[in-house]
Amino acid sequence: MPQPQIFHGRLNGWKVIVTGAGTLGDGVGTGKAIATLFAGEGAKVALFDLDEARVQTTFNLIAGLNGDARIFIGNVADPADAKRMTAEALEWLGGLDVLANNIGIASGAGQLHTVPQADIDRVMSVNFGTVVNMCRETMPALMAGNGKAIVNIASVAGMLAHGNSAYGPSKAAVIQLTSELAVMYGRDGIRANCVAPGHIMTPMVEAHVKGEHRRVRTAIAPIGVEGDAWDIAQAALFLAGPESRFITGLTIPVDGGVTVVGPLAAYERVTAEGAA
Ligand SMILES: NC(=O)c1ccc[n+]([C@@H]2O[C@H](COP(=O)([O-])OP(=O)(O)OC[C@H]3O[C@@H](n4cnc5c(N)ncnc54)[C@H](O)[C@@H]3O)[C@@H](O)[C@H]2O)c1
Repeated sequence: MPQPQIFHGRLNGWKVIVTGAGTLGDGVGTGKAIATLFAGEGAKVALFDLDEARVQTTFNLIAGLNGDARIFIGNVADPADAKRMTAEALEWLGGLDVLANNIGIASGAGQLHTVPQADIDRVMSVNFGTVVNMCRETMPALMAGNGKAIVNIASVAGMLAHGNSAYGPSKAAVIQLTSELAVMYGRDGIRANCVAPGHIMTPMVEAHVKGEHRRVRTAIAPIGVEGDAWDIAQAALFLAGPESRFITGLTIPVDGGVTVVGPLAAYERVTAEGAA
């Protein structure tokens, strides 16, 4: 979907942290889209990222909307960095209403016995560890906030096996932790939910999804179109805001139906359209 141009002040005055708010390469990834949409809707947004240049493009996009954002640089997978960045951000924000955990890396492909342990450890520490670190550091502030929502960006790879030793399992861990958080902190008024992106096109996947692979990936979805980062941001906005006040502990696939289509139906669509 196109970048939203009209905003409704749905997060006016809200204080938000988005992790992985930059994008690898040009274009718009989910972290950039979430931070920009939330800022467009009136939130004050702390942008967390490893890489200053990547996150500066998000800051510029938000500045173009007259939004309020500030950059915080560090490695969120490192507990000490996550602690420092959170303390700095909370001081600037003056509290916290929403935590959006978006950091994720795709690695660990191949049969388990061929994947170096270091790759598996890295994926777990980045995809799962950053969520743990951020929840630990922000929970007292979130408990005192008004919005009280955590939105984690998982993946359909955490729900359906793709033959990857580390990425899917790390996202499954995020999905389960989200349900645990919902139970642990429900009485504190905090809701925790996941968005599970499906076959979306972002700079992160552009490099290795091309040609026939891209056609098949799109055709498998019942609606037969490719999603993008703005589709994920819109779902994150719904899960962050008061409209979803009765929803917690859940994972919403935003995937054009990839997680509900049966293997044979998917096969028929892919082959029929390929033959046409
Ligand atoms: N693109 C897809 O098709 C797809 C599908 C399913 C799930 N996802 C998930 O969506 C998210 C992708 O987000 P994106 O499009 O914004 O990705 P991206 O790779 O473009 O951007 C991620 C940002 O996170 C930052 N980052 C990485 N490790 C970090 C760390 N340890 N500390 C601080 N910052 C760090 C990077 O510098 C980068 O700017 C990931 O969680 C990914 O697993 C994407």
